[in-house]
Amino acid sequence: MAPHPPLALPEGFTLGVATSSFQIEGAVAEDGRGPSIWDTFARTPGAVVGGDTGDVACDHYHRLEEDLDLLVWLGVDSYRFSIAWPRVQPDGRSLEPRGLDFYDRLVDGLLERGIHPLATLYHWDLPQRLEDDGGWSERATVERFVSYSEVVAGRLGDRVRDWSTLNEPWCAAFLGYDAGIHAPGVRDPARAIAAVHHLLLAHGEASRAIRAAGGPGTNVGIVLNPAPIRPASDDEADLAAARRADGLRNRVWLDPLVHGRYPDDVLAAWEPLTDLGALHRDDDLAAIAAPIDLLGINYYNPVVVTARPAGDGGLPGPGQDHLAEVPGPAPHTTLGWSIDATGLEELLLRLHRDYPGVTMAVTENGGAFPDAPGPNGRIDDTDRIAYLDAHLRAATRAAAAGVDVRGYYVWTLLDNFEWAEGYAPTFGIVHVDRATQVRTPKASADWYREAIAGRRGAAAS
Ligand code: FCB
Repeated sequence: MAPHPPLALPEGFTLGVATSSFQIEGAVAEDGRGPSIWDTFARTPGAVVGGDTGDVACDHYHRLEEDLDLLVWLGVDSYRFSIAWPRVQPDGRSLEPRGLDFYDRLVDGLLERGIHPLATLYHWDLPQRLEDDGGWSERATVERFVSYSEVVAGRLGDRVRDWSTLNEPWCAAFLGYDAGIHAPGVRDPARAIAAVHHLLLAHGEASRAIRAAGGPGTNVGIVLNPAPIRPASDDEADLAAARRADGLRNRVWLDPLVHGRYPDDVLAAWEPLTDLGALHRDDDLAAIAAPIDLLGINYYNPVVVTARPAGDGGLPGPGQDHLAEVPGPAPHTTLGWSIDATGLEELLLRLHRDYPGVTMAVTENGGAFPDAPGPNGRIDDTDRIAYLDAHLRAATRAAAAGVDVRGYYVWTLLDNFEWAEGYAPTFGIVHVDRATQVRTPKASADWYREAIAGRRGAAAS
């Protein structure tokens, strides 16, 4: 099935797929890997739907070659993956060479196949040992992350040119330490506020270390999950709620990273909750605002926000009582997320306006759909194709309007461990049989393959 009408992509626009270590690798106790906070969290009764764990996941650790060949079949320009910190440093400190060897093979396997690696250093699998010492609430974790980054970039930096430090620190800080619905399952606003600062600082300090280790031509960025925030009505209270939600979802990350300062309204909301003077030290913001080469944008849906009475709801993130997310308009994916590609275009335009000069790529976009196999066993996921096609077009419209957006990565290659939701929601363009691990491309994989090939043909002619 060809994309219709053909995609008109900007010159040099990268098309890729994204995955993350904990969601696909499995082999959690192999080759010296230490436990991560997600191993612990998944074993906490009630934490993950169905009691699912990452123990086996997609068994990617043992099926690396097969999965690399799938990327070749798709024809992607680039593969975004993450490195599992507890494979490289099982206790967050000591080095496990076999862990590094795995990523060495992965990177070489990509390069041999002509696929460009985009490596993420932290996609939420913190070594459990570091969490035992306070995790991201502790400043010492920043130093640990910097030395881990140095080790990895020292080994792979001769071949990996493009790095991102963190994936979606909003989730790590607010779902992990405030709402407690992601690992490590903490509900403590002061710890969440500390985690925000230490994650940002870890990004800034590590970016310097990665550049030093990788030498000239090293590009470093960060991946965020900003979203358009829409008030549920024109009521003053809803407008104010949307503004507060925007502070925590978007500005508290982007303002320090790009402008070197925290937004005043967020600081004012946080002041009563913790000692910001002790947390935010001189020179921290200068390190956080070190220039980046790429801002990765993970986009799924706009967020609709309403004001609520005290005690009724609250979004993840400290200082957001009295406001709540309401379901966005239909249609929805199987996770109830609104399908709205205009949100991506609006978001990219807004980021371009408020944070000018930043180069961006859409580093995740995709959806969970019912994926019922047809009589021939084939998954004809026309809903996913429509979703991906609409969002890819939204990104190219933003590019045509002058936004510096250079690529698009589908989330995700394989049906995998969807965090607290377990294995039930499927985001893959390739189906994975949970019992046999057999990979079967869905119709969306054929669509993407043809879109990539068609784009190449168009560029060549
Ligand atoms: C993002 C995560 C990614 C995946 C998608 C659905 O928040 O970065 O790992 O789970 O959501």
